[in-house]
Amino acid sequence: MKLLIPVASGMEQITKRQLSTLGFEKAPADNGRIEVDGDWQDIAKLNVFLRSGERVLILLSRFSATTFDELYEGIYAIPWEDWLTVESKILMDGKSVQSQLAAIKACGGVAKKAIISRLADKVRTGRKTFSESGARSIVGFSIFKDEVTITLDTSGDGLHKRGYRSLAYSAPLKETLAAALIDSTFYNPDRDIEKPFADPFCWSGTLPIEAARKALHIPPGLDREFDFAKWDYAPKGILEEAKEEGKAGILTDVKPCIWASDINPEAISIAKYHAKRAGVDKHIRFSVANATQFSATEKYGVLVSNPPYGERLSDEREVQSLMRAFGKAFRALPDWNAYILTSLPQFERFFGKTADKKKKLYNANLVCGFYSYFGKSPKSDFDKRR
Ligand SMILES: C[S@@+](CC[C@H](N)C(=O)[O-])C[C@H]1O[C@@H](n2cnc3c(N)ncnc32)[C@H](O)[C@@H]1O
Repeated sequence: MKLLIPVASGMEQITKRQLSTLGFEKAPADNGRIEVDGDWQDIAKLNVFLRSGERVLILLSRFSATTFDELYEGIYAIPWEDWLTVESKILMDGKSVQSQLAAIKACGGVAKKAIISRLADKVRTGRKTFSESGARSIVGFSIFKDEVTITLDTSGDGLHKRGYRSLAYSAPLKETLAAALIDSTFYNPDRDIEKPFADPFCWSGTLPIEAARKALHIPPGLDREFDFAKWDYAPKGILEEAKEEGKAGILTDVKPCIWASDINPEAISIAKYHAKRAGVDKHIRFSVANATQFSATEKYGVLVSNPPYGERLSDEREVQSLMRAFGKAFRALPDWNAYILTSLPQFERFFGKTADKKKKLYNANLVCGFYSYFGKSPKSDFDKRR
């Protein structure tokens, strides 16, 4: 089977690296989606282990269409009787970009009609109506420059829904984006578990929780369900097997050093609650603290954070002066690495330091910069002493 994994813009390379560690070497990316070859076991594995893909989709067909008739024909030609039953609860999820077929609702109607007609013609149940009382199957149709891609969503809910974050009220980072950001930093707990990881603006705790789960090798999809496991034609037991493999790999004898703080006491109690649900509360040191007082006795560390955005949480000027004070505190730690996700225009000017690397990203449709500051590595100290 061909599987498609949609990824957040700018996160293709990080997700490809994760795929490579899961054994998927050949993974070309195109138009925000990574394509891999896989069987049902791979579908289970990807859903349970992939940290930053958004979903795992089965690619059913690709064809050109500029009219509703062509769309209908292309969808009718798919052997839906191999994928759906007359009880399937079929949901359509579509988008169209730069294409003649632009009316999504109408396209969705045509697509569903084609699926139902095919099932009615091929699955001879004698029934006239379809009950839609069974397992959910989300059929995706994406039309880009008149090329239609039809998919079946094995994940169901997006992979960012790990299951631990139930209380966040606004502006939390998506778990999949948080995981991708962490993977793009120098935080490498497998090599140096004692190196501190800090988020001084932690709110609901997404970054420190994802860092702790990475350090402990807790698979992201361990605590949730996936649509494919309820489908009649998917082999039974494969999700359980993948989860068992995931559980067996969890490290129980490591002590990551992860700090989470926020100026808002309510944020800290929410973050603690989420960390408990995520099984990592004992591995994170929480505190109510002002990030402008951030300090550490440890010479080396990694700070990954997304400070308040002027747009949503406070007035831009306040954020500018907060970044000035935070930048001053951070400069007292010249050997630390810092990675800041922010939409604040001219962030570097206020932070007081030009980033070593910057990348444009989207966080909930907000254009952001991800600014990387590299401290000295412990290796360069070691090299000097020799
Ligand atoms: C954009 S939110 C962080 C979202 C977080 N990454 C998440 O996924 O939930 C920014 C946070 O910065 C906190 N904050 C604002 N000013 C602060 C300060 N001076 N020191 C520490 N935290 C502060 C806010 O309380 C808010 O929780």
